[in-house]
Amino acid sequence: MSTVVITGTQWGDEGKGKIVDYLAAQADTVVRYQGGSNAGHTVSVNGEEYKLRLMPSGILYKGTLCVIGNGVVFDPQVFLEEIDAMKKRGVDTSNIRISNRAHVVMPWHKLCDELGENLRGENKIGTTKRGIGPCYMDKADRVGIRVCDLIDREDFAEKCREVLDQKNFLLKQIYNHEPLNYEEILKEYEGYAEKIAPYVCDTITLLNEEVDAGKKILFEGAQATMLDIDYGTYPYVTASHPISGGVCVGAGIAPKKIGKVVGVVKAYCTRVGEGPFPTEQLNEIGDKIRTAGHEFGTVTGRPRRTGWLDACVVKYAGQLSGIDCMAVTRLDILDGFDEIKMCTAYEVDGKIISDIPASLKVLAKVKPVYETFTGWKEDISNIRNYADLPVNAKKYLERMAEVTKISLGIISVGPNRDQTIIVDKNIF
Ligand code: GDP
Ligand code: IMO
Ligand code: MG
Repeated sequence: MSTVVITGTQWGDEGKGKIVDYLAAQADTVVRYQGGSNAGHTVSVNGEEYKLRLMPSGILYKGTLCVIGNGVVFDPQVFLEEIDAMKKRGVDTSNIRISNRAHVVMPWHKLCDELGENLRGENKIGTTKRGIGPCYMDKADRVGIRVCDLIDREDFAEKCREVLDQKNFLLKQIYNHEPLNYEEILKEYEGYAEKIAPYVCDTITLLNEEVDAGKKILFEGAQATMLDIDYGTYPYVTASHPISGGVCVGAGIAPKKIGKVVGVVKAYCTRVGEGPFPTEQLNEIGDKIRTAGHEFGTVTGRPRRTGWLDACVVKYAGQLSGIDCMAVTRLDILDGFDEIKMCTAYEVDGKIISDIPASLKVLAKVKPVYETFTGWKEDISNIRNYADLPVNAKKYLERMAEVTKISLGIISVGPNRDQTIIVDKNIF
């Protein structure tokens, strides 16, 4: 079967965009199945950087179909900005399809994301304020507006009025906020509707026909396992399912039609926003990782929290997503470290565990059990064969595979396409 899911194993920003772009050279189609413009996927081609938010990371190949699936929360404003930016850079944008079932991010979603965070005060989640949580809330509350509603002028005018009346009531009652203006929103979104209509279709039929025809399809996860609303560090999570199972509901693909799953693993660990992070290094090691890796968010520019690799987290991701192999990224950032640590278990109340506690209270108490590795001094960014990696780098990688019980598939040693070492030649 020629369907491959690319999923993040940690707290996001593992380098999913780079891996999707690399594998997209062989793919017919690339599909986003969850999340929205909270994603920031950076793709570097010949030294040029593209920061993608809603756009699937297959966009840089002419002729590759790029699909925004039904499970995505779709912000037309961001989408059209991305289209314009791509066109200006000479990128062909004619091969994009948007699901008619995807939910639309409306102005009240972005506003409520911001107001909700302010109201939480010290307990804020640290969201990207892109309206993601409120849009998924409305989907579950059955007051969402879908892309098929947006492009139907009459339907949209009616639905928008109905929902806005409710929202304005809530804005006043909860936040004492002035009402949003119906006419303005209607005009703005009618303009978007006209522009996006040519891209809209039934992506479920389209994708299933492609799967049946044996086309090569990549499913591009956004966010990651530890931000999954069920499996992550709830409530410090996003509102969707980044794990591979998210493909079934977010793209309309049956479980038995998923071929392979690649888990993207950053060689160390980062997190943006609040919430538990057992291996976080709030010291000069964390600063060194942040500086070496330029760890600042693509979407918000916030400094990312940094720490050592947590193999318990990666193992958990492996179980949840059925990961066949790992794509380890940013190994080059660890060049020059005297010592590298890997958390292989946790100690809690005198007991050694390796599963992820559900309770944040317990998770806050866990002490990582570290194994220490001697670093390597060589610059590995020009290495293209696994055998040529420094012995100490291979020891680190092989121990990672052993602890997580997931084999090595790809090793990435730089942001560019060619800075990639293939271990498993049969990913597609
Ligand atoms: P994503 O959200 O998972 O796609 O990851 P981001 O794009 O937010 O962050 C990953 C960053 O690392 C981007 O700037 C990539 O260009 C960059 N990157 C990806 N792989 C590598 C690598 O192997 N080495 C280095 N140095 N940078 C990488
Ligand atoms: P990519 O796809 C890293 C985090 C936010 C916040 C939490 C909830 O680039 O890996 P949300 O706006 O989704 O309601 O915020 O999730 N978050 C991410 N962190 N990478 C991402 O995406 C993220 N998308 C959301 O920082 O803690
Ligand atoms: Mg990112």
